[in-house]
Amino acid sequence: MKAIDIRNKYLNFFKNREHSVLPSAPLIPENDPSVLFTTAGMQPLVPYLLGEKHPAGTRLTDYQKCVRTVDIEEVGDNRHLTYFEMLGNWSLGDYFKKESIKMSFDFLTKELEIPVEKLSVTVFAGDEDAPRDEESASIWKEVGMPEQHIYYFGKEDNWWIAGEEGPCGPDTEMFYDTGKEPCSEHCNPSCGCGKYVEIWNNVFMEYYKTKQGKYSKLKQKNVDTGLGLERMTMLLQGKETPYDTELFAKVMEKLTQLAKCDNITSRRIVAEHLRSSMMIICDGGRPSNVERGYVLRRLIRRMTRHLNKLGIDLNELPNLIELNIEILKELYPELEKNKETIKQVLIEEKDKFMKTLHHGEKEFEKAMNKIKQENMQKVEGQVVFRLYDTYGFPPEVTSDLAQEQGYCIDMEEFQKLYKEHQEKSRMGSEQKFKGGLADQNEETICYHTATHLLNAALKITVDKNVHQKGSNITQERMRFDFSCDHKLTQEEIQKTEALVNEWIQQALPVTQEEMKKEEAIKTGAECMFIEKYPDIVTVYSIGDVSKELCGGPHVKNTSELGIFKIKKEEASSAGVRRIKAVLIK
Ligand code: ALA
Repeated sequence: MKAIDIRNKYLNFFKNREHSVLPSAPLIPENDPSVLFTTAGMQPLVPYLLGEKHPAGTRLTDYQKCVRTVDIEEVGDNRHLTYFEMLGNWSLGDYFKKESIKMSFDFLTKELEIPVEKLSVTVFAGDEDAPRDEESASIWKEVGMPEQHIYYFGKEDNWWIAGEEGPCGPDTEMFYDTGKEPCSEHCNPSCGCGKYVEIWNNVFMEYYKTKQGKYSKLKQKNVDTGLGLERMTMLLQGKETPYDTELFAKVMEKLTQLAKCDNITSRRIVAEHLRSSMMIICDGGRPSNVERGYVLRRLIRRMTRHLNKLGIDLNELPNLIELNIEILKELYPELEKNKETIKQVLIEEKDKFMKTLHHGEKEFEKAMNKIKQENMQKVEGQVVFRLYDTYGFPPEVTSDLAQEQGYCIDMEEFQKLYKEHQEKSRMGSEQKFKGGLADQNEETICYHTATHLLNAALKITVDKNVHQKGSNITQERMRFDFSCDHKLTQEEIQKTEALVNEWIQQALPVTQEEMKKEEAIKTGAECMFIEKYPDIVTVYSIGDVSKELCGGPHVKNTSELGIFKIKKEEASSAGVRRIKAVLIK
């Protein structure tokens, strides 16, 4: 079965069980600066897991493009990927353990026809935060899982949370037995020897973990699941690695043809990083020296370096991109549409890197001579950092170069210097931010207040469940994104505009008040991401029509705003609409 068939089977299976099929959210999260990339299917759904009403209902399914970069150094082995696709289904306060487990079991054994003997599952063993999940274990038994294939493990294995705080819960994980020999008499799904491969994770999300490590119950019991498409494809095709499936095989072959030496690790790194960078660029990512841009830069640089290592002419890059698009366009038609941009960005970045590589390698050689003369064991962190800072060498490039000469790098010292550097640039950007606010002029302040009025108006003219999803303000206009399941009608637009103008004419006072976050929530104040606010918050009120948590600044009275005019209403992403508006004075 090909990857596309597995994806289609999955979405259809859940569609036939009353799930709405959502499009994949972009790899670059919208309105969530706290994460670099979308790392799981649940991420774009966090507000709904916390209780907000999803316009598509309480049962959802989708395929989600994901990038996880924590394992970037591991890529090249037989399983780690930075880009992968996650198939998922969700219950937002709808079904729970019983239906979820039954559906997973049916999908695996009936749709994918995996023999039950090949499957094992794990469930949460229980601790002081949540009870032992005997319920899930007994449901597994009921649906037909042999008792000896059910294992209990603690939080390290059977608890899922994205990061440090947020919605979370015990999970039940499904494993595929590859048929390899057990590693010991204690071999089990959590031992990591490779006999058992995790294929699906169903998280029973009924808890919320705070930054302080406290758990509380969520408003509703959710199910969040994730099934890795590349891994499932590999297993169903009886292949040893994802690189042997149709997702990578042709690129791997092409690299073998072009390479002057055989190095499977380098070929895998090139194939994987090329695919990953293409997907990121396609969704709007661009190389830079900070955050997302830097991850992309690292991927491209690492790929370029391994192309070099394989002795492949870098002018082959456009052909490799074309080949990848051919392979992936059925899964991601957007790649074809963005082909020229993808090529341009990748080629430009590769060229830039080649220049720095040339200078950097000379510098590296000088440093190595000194290290050898002085009989040192490692390449000092200082050297690694200078190569990074001045020549744009990711530390792993330096590490690769050092390894070729039998040396390793002082990663710890590098990390320390890197952190110091980050801290300095963070302080710099905070300064910049402060400057930005100080520079705020009358126009942007007026637009800021107008977003609050628009937010309040939409709740009356469109739906009380409308919530802000993002905004963007310049001196000339405002953009406002909000949750809404339909295109606004002309009438809704006119009513909204009229209501905002009415409030402006009423010359409502704008007042601010500081209070504890919990109190602010109790007053019903509106806010976007409650967990991202400090304990003491500022609440801005406009007459008695609007109350929002906000950092300000705002006008003193709505009469300062002028005439509010909606210029455009359009889709922003799934379930999110965008209004562009101006204030005419
Ligand atoms: N969110 C869960 C995961 O990523 C399903 O494993």
